[in-house]
Amino acid sequence: MCGIVGYIGKKECTEVLLNGLSKLEYRGYDSAGIAVFDSKSKDIKTIKAKGRLKDLNDKLKTEGGLKGNCGIGHTRWATHGEPSDINSHPHGNARVTIVHNGIIENYKKLKEFLESQGYVFESQTDTETVAKLLDYYYDGKDPLECIKEVINEIEGSYALGILFKDFPDTIYAVRKDSPLIVGKGENESFIASDVPAILKYTKDYYLLDEDEIAVLDSSGVRFFTKFGKQIDKEVLTADFDEESAAKGGFEHYMLKEIYEQPNAIKMTVTPRISNGMPDFSESGLTDEMLNGYKRIFIIACGTAMHAATVGKYVIERLARVPVTVDLASEFRYRNPILSKQDLVILVSQSGETADTLAALRLAKNVGAATMGIVNVKGSSIARESDIVLYTHAGPEISVASTKAYMVQIAMFYLLAFKLAFIKKTISKDECKRLVSVICKVPEIIEKVLELSDTCSYVASKLISSENLLYIGRGLDYALSMEGSLKLKEISYIHSEAYAAGELKHGTISLVTEQMPVVAVATQRELFDKTMSNIKEVKSRGAKVVLITHKCMSVDEEAADYVIKLPTVDDMLMPMIAIVPLQLIAYYSSVLRGNDVDKPRNLAKSVTVE
Ligand code: AGP
Ligand code: GLU
Repeated sequence: MCGIVGYIGKKECTEVLLNGLSKLEYRGYDSAGIAVFDSKSKDIKTIKAKGRLKDLNDKLKTEGGLKGNCGIGHTRWATHGEPSDINSHPHGNARVTIVHNGIIENYKKLKEFLESQGYVFESQTDTETVAKLLDYYYDGKDPLECIKEVINEIEGSYALGILFKDFPDTIYAVRKDSPLIVGKGENESFIASDVPAILKYTKDYYLLDEDEIAVLDSSGVRFFTKFGKQIDKEVLTADFDEESAAKGGFEHYMLKEIYEQPNAIKMTVTPRISNGMPDFSESGLTDEMLNGYKRIFIIACGTAMHAATVGKYVIERLARVPVTVDLASEFRYRNPILSKQDLVILVSQSGETADTLAALRLAKNVGAATMGIVNVKGSSIARESDIVLYTHAGPEISVASTKAYMVQIAMFYLLAFKLAFIKKTISKDECKRLVSVICKVPEIIEKVLELSDTCSYVASKLISSENLLYIGRGLDYALSMEGSLKLKEISYIHSEAYAAGELKHGTISLVTEQMPVVAVATQRELFDKTMSNIKEVKSRGAKVVLITHKCMSVDEEAADYVIKLPTVDDMLMPMIAIVPLQLIAYYSSVLRGNDVDKPRNLAKSVTVE
């Protein structure tokens, strides 16, 4: 949902801003723009363009560029107003110019007020009301006072980078419910929506808390509360570098991230094993706490919700604790029945997803215990959860999530093993055995990655279809949901995931020769049942792709294409079987000529409702 950047230092800021935006384009790519204090006149000059960063670059070249050492930039995922030049950020006038990430919920009311004061609006964005409101409150003397007034009036979410013409080479920044970091370099400072945007220049940064204001100028950075009191903040250091946030020779981030999965699992699992047993003590999660939870709710969106579904199967199967999985956008409005004995787990790669964050706050209000399973350090969900279990996938840039899903499910396995041991539903030996199995998974995935060409071939057989079904039972159904989401998200082929046994209750009427079916059958106790369902679709003309264990005997006519996977405990098969599903989606997108890492209409981090 939009990326914002800002720079003040000795360098030509256009280059720094464009570099930062290129690292944030995953957050939105409807348009891009920059505003710079012109080095000669010290006027604020803005250039912005609909489309990708490349279009902005072209426009900068044709218009002679912008010269100066201080500026702000934006890459947009439109929420209010179509993607167009005029709706692109920065917004503002000669006195105040801003970039914004978020949504101003009361913008209509504010706009009416400002219009009554003589302001004329150019764009359809909510953001323009903030720019004009800043101008309205600005007395020509004190930007801080003016920002304090404005944040008192605006409702919704915002990360703002602000330039005041009267204060050249100074950036003001403030945030609420949208992420913003402040980078600290040698004689230079930055603002950015995410750490990768500053890594080329520095690994040191501050996290801006809700409604804190940062002032960046040539003397460094100062922080203030919303009441204007100056405060000190702790400097953090990123635990990854520019290289690990780059493509590293792969054609797309998504492919790179699929290949990073074995390592991501190791990074996530290994630090949580002690003496062969799962150990969460470092995160403050004690055995007593785990023993005390009567019910578990797992709340998330999209792929993270699919990881939660795997979590539910595994926790219920092993630990016999009831688990409810909910989409965050539904949970927050359905008045859920929660109590203080419940544990609410929020799963989120970015840690900034607005619906998931709202669900967390709702759970906290009721007094339930909250736990975030989050990838981005210091993100809002991580900071606000009672307990945070960090997944260590490293930066995930591709909009389609792969390695983050993998480590989310790895975390659920470890949690389930631990919980089952504490609840005495499995013995210590069994717990240790399961831990040793998960430790072998990275190696097995390396083997599965060798099936990349097979997956590309299978994809080539699917891409001419406009519709597809994914089927499976139990854990394979949970996996089918993720396989289907991945395919539709990046290949734009419509697909649906169905519980294999449910097809005959309606959906099978869709099955024809034009409707290929991807069947996942990795659960041995359900294998024969799924095979019967495969026969049902096959006899209605469907082309079938079957993903199963190497050890299962499948007769030749059963499926058109069979992908046989190395075998591990059935319960852990989702970690293995998701890989060909990711690769099939990836190659389908490549073969259809799509922009794999930046699928249309989407953004990586969904900080709006
Ligand atoms: C995954 O491929 C999607 N882009 C999307 O479903 C994503 O998982 C969802 O928006 C949740 O994001 P989060 O994990 O950052 O909360
Ligand atoms: N609401 C602003 C716009 O539409 C910012 C969008 C965002 O942050 O996603 O331009």
